[in-house]
Amino acid sequence: MTTNDHDCRVCGGRVREFLDLGSQPTANGFLPPEEADGVFLFRLAVGACETCTMVQLIDEVPQEFRYHADYRYRASGSASHRQHFQRNAQRFLRTELAGDDPFIVEIGCNDGVMLGTIAEAGVRHLGVEPSTTVAAIAASKGVRVLTEFFDEATAAAVHDDHGPADVVFGANTVCHISHVGSVLRGLDKLLKPRGVFVFEEPYLGTLVDQMAFDQIYDEHVFYFSVTSVRQMASRYGFELVDAEHTPMHGGGIRYTLARVGARSPAPAVARLLADEHARKLTDPQTHARFAGNVTRIRRDLLALLGEIKAQGRSVVGYGAPAKCTTVTNYCGIGTDLVPFVCDSTPAKQGHLVPGSNLPVRPPAAFADPYPDYALLFAWNHAEEIMANEAAFSATGGRWIRYIPEVHVV
Ligand code: SAM
Ligand code: TMP
Ligand code: ZN
Repeated sequence: MTTNDHDCRVCGGRVREFLDLGSQPTANGFLPPEEADGVFLFRLAVGACETCTMVQLIDEVPQEFRYHADYRYRASGSASHRQHFQRNAQRFLRTELAGDDPFIVEIGCNDGVMLGTIAEAGVRHLGVEPSTTVAAIAASKGVRVLTEFFDEATAAAVHDDHGPADVVFGANTVCHISHVGSVLRGLDKLLKPRGVFVFEEPYLGTLVDQMAFDQIYDEHVFYFSVTSVRQMASRYGFELVDAEHTPMHGGGIRYTLARVGARSPAPAVARLLADEHARKLTDPQTHARFAGNVTRIRRDLLALLGEIKAQGRSVVGYGAPAKCTTVTNYCGIGTDLVPFVCDSTPAKQGHLVPGSNLPVRPPAAFADPYPDYALLFAWNHAEEIMANEAAFSATGGRWIRYIPEVHVV
C-alpha cells in the first residue's frame, strides 16, 4: 500500500501519516557484498491512528521477509542486555513463577537471552521463535523452542501441548507483530485465568524526547504508548494493570496485561496516562514537530560529515544496529562519507549495511589506525562502547552523536 491513508491494525480507524523516511531495505538484512544489488526496498513511513492513537508503519514488509534463518540480531550481543534479561528471569522466578509447576512462554526468545536463566532454574518454559538460526542458539543453551510465528493458532497449539501459562513474555518483539489482534486472542486461550502478558518495548515518549527516529524501521510496526496499549488491551478483553519504565533502548516501557477484573491496576498506570496527556504525546502537533526535527538532524549530520571530509579527516561508524540502516539510508550516507562500520557481531562482519552498503568490520579494525571521528550508531550502548574504547578518546578521537541532535563529544 502506498497511499497516505491506511486502516489501523488495531482498531480499523484512519491512520494519519506524519513522517516519511523514504525508500528503505529491511534493517537487519545485512547482505554479503555479492548480493547487495538485489536488495528489497519499501517505503518507510509512520502515522498515528485518529481513533485509538496507535502510532504505526504505513506500509509493511511481510514477516517472512524479516524473520528467517538469516536474521542477524543476537540479543545476547551486549553485556547490558544479558544482565537485564537475567534480572528479568530472576524476577519472574521470584514472583509469577513461584507457585506449583509454573509455565512461561516467551514470544521471540531469540538466542535464549532470557529463557536461558529459566531453563537453568529447571522451570517449564517454551520459546516461540521463527528465526531458525537464533532459535538453534537458544536450544543449545537448553532452552525449549518452537520455531513458529506466534499467533492465535500457535497459542492454541501451545496450550494443547503444554497446558495454560502463568506468564507470556515478549521483549522488543510485540511491537514487531502486525497481527497483534491474533496475538491477543491467542493469549486469551493460552493464559491461566490470573495469568499475565508482560512485554517490554521501545516507548513512543522516548522516541519523541530523544528524537530517536532511527528506532523506526521495518521490524517496528508499532510505536507503543501507555495510552495506545491500554486501548489495544481493552479491545481484546484485557486490562493494562502495570506499566514501568525500563532502561532498554534508551528508555522503554514494560507493560503488564491481565484479563479484565483479574488484577487491580497499579497506580503507575494512571500516573503514566496523565503524564502522556499532559505532554500531548498523542497530539498531531507533537508528531509534526518530531518530523520537523528529523529533517533538521539529516541536514546537520550531512553538513558535519561533509565538513570533516573537506578537511581531509577520517570518520568510521561504530556499531551496525538496525538503527544504522534507517539513518544511513534516510540521510544518504554512503562509503564516500563513512568508509566502514565496526561491529562486534560476527554474523554482521564481512556483510554490508543494507541499502547504504557500508562494509561491516570487526571492532579490531577501529584501532587500525584510529580515525579522527567515530559516528556512534549504537548510541543506546554509548556508555559500554565509550568505556571499551577509552583509548580512542585518549588519542584525541572524537565521537559524533546525532541523537537528540547532532553534536561532537
Ligand atoms: N527478546 C529479544 C530481545 O529483547 O533482545 C529479541 C528481540 S528481536 C528484536 C525480535 C525477535 O522476535 C526476533 O528474534 C524475531 O525472530 C522474533 N519474532 C518476530 N515475529 C515473531 C512472532 N510473530 N512470533 C514470535 N517471534 C517473533
Ligand atoms: P542494538 O542497539 O540493537 O542492541 O545493537 C547494537 C549493535 O552494536 C550490535 O550490532 C552490537 C554492536 N555493539 C558493538 O559493536 N560493540 C559494543 O560494545 C556493543 C555494546 C554493541
Ligand atoms: Zn486504531
